[in-house]
Amino acid sequence: MRDKILELLKSGKDFLSGEMISHGLGISRNAVWKHVNALRDEGYEIESVRNKGYRLVSSGNIINEREIADGLDTRLLGKYIVYMDEVDSTSEEAKRQKDMPDGTLFVAEVQSAGKGRRGRKWTSARGDGIFMSLLLKPEIDMRDISQVTLAVGIGVCRALRECAGIEAQIKWPNDIVCQGKKICGILTEMTAEIDRVEYLVCGIGINVNQKSFGSELSKKASSLCILAEHKFERTPIIQSALRHIEDAYMMFLKSGFSTLQDDYRALCVTLGREVRVIRGGEGQTAFARDVNERGELLVERDGREFAVSSGEVSVRGIYGYI
Ligand code: BTN
Repeated sequence: MRDKILELLKSGKDFLSGEMISHGLGISRNAVWKHVNALRDEGYEIESVRNKGYRLVSSGNIINEREIADGLDTRLLGKYIVYMDEVDSTSEEAKRQKDMPDGTLFVAEVQSAGKGRRGRKWTSARGDGIFMSLLLKPEIDMRDISQVTLAVGIGVCRALRECAGIEAQIKWPNDIVCQGKKICGILTEMTAEIDRVEYLVCGIGINVNQKSFGSELSKKASSLCILAEHKFERTPIIQSALRHIEDAYMMFLKSGFSTLQDDYRALCVTLGREVRVIRGGEGQTAFARDVNERGELLVERDGREFAVSSGEVSVRGIYGYI
C-alpha cells in the first residue's frame, strides 16, 4: 500500500488530496496519513497542506530497492536488489547469498566492516558513499577474471561522466581517479571450482557526498561532492553505473576484452607515466606503455618490455598517488 501511495504522489506534480488517495486505494484517510508518515520516516520529503493534501517534495538521498528499481532499464544487473540499511560488507553479504540470481545487486547505506584491496579497510559512513556489490556468474576462464574488473571500471567512469559531469580516469587496474585522487575503488573476488568460476563478487565503493577526508587520506582521496562542490543523489548514480557496467560487461562476455581495449586505454591515466611495479615486496621503476588485449599493463624497463597482470603486482605512481 505504501508503494502505491508513493506511486500516486510521484505521478502528480501538484497536491493530491487525502480523500482522493483514500478513495482511489480503498483505505481510510487515517491509514493514508499513517502511510505518509512511514514514508517520511524512510526519508521522503512529503509536504501536507490543509485542504490541499499531500505533495512529494523530494525523494531525498534515499537508496532502497524501490528507488533503484524505478526506471532501471538494465537486462541483468540489478534485476534483483538486496538493500540493507547496515551490513558488515555488501561483498560478504553477496557471498552469503551466493544462490541469488546472476546480476543481483547488494547495496547498503552503511558498512561496519567495508573491505578494500590488499586487506585494507574501506571507510563506509552512512549517507556519504555508494557501497554496492554485484553477484556475477559468468561462464569464463578463470584467467580472464581481472578483465571483468577492468570492464566495470569503464562502466563506472562513464556513469560518473553522465551523472556528475566528472571526467574520471582509471589508475590501472581499477582505481577510479579524478584530479589525481581516488574517488572509487573496485574489489573483485572469485569463488571457483577446479576448472570453472562458480561466481564473482564485484564490490564497488564510490565516494559521493563526503565533504572532507582525514588529513592523511585527503592527499589520496576525493569525492564527487568535493570535486563538483555540491551534493549528489545516489540513486541516479547507482542506476547509471548499473547501465554502463552492464554495457561494458556484456561486450566483454560477447567478444572479449579486446573490444574494450581502446576504451580502456583512453581512460587509463597510468599510461605514459613512470610507475613503481611492486612484486613480493620488491619494487622496480618502469615506464607504463600500454594495456594489451588481456588487460595486462605493458611496462618498459632497461629497453625491455614486459606485461604485468593485476593479480601479481601492484603499481604505484612515482610522483604522488597516480
Ligand atoms: C579498493 O581497495 O580500492 C577496493 C574498495 C572496494 C570497496 C567496496 S564498498 C562495497 C564493497 N563492499 C566491501 O566491503 N568492499 C567493496
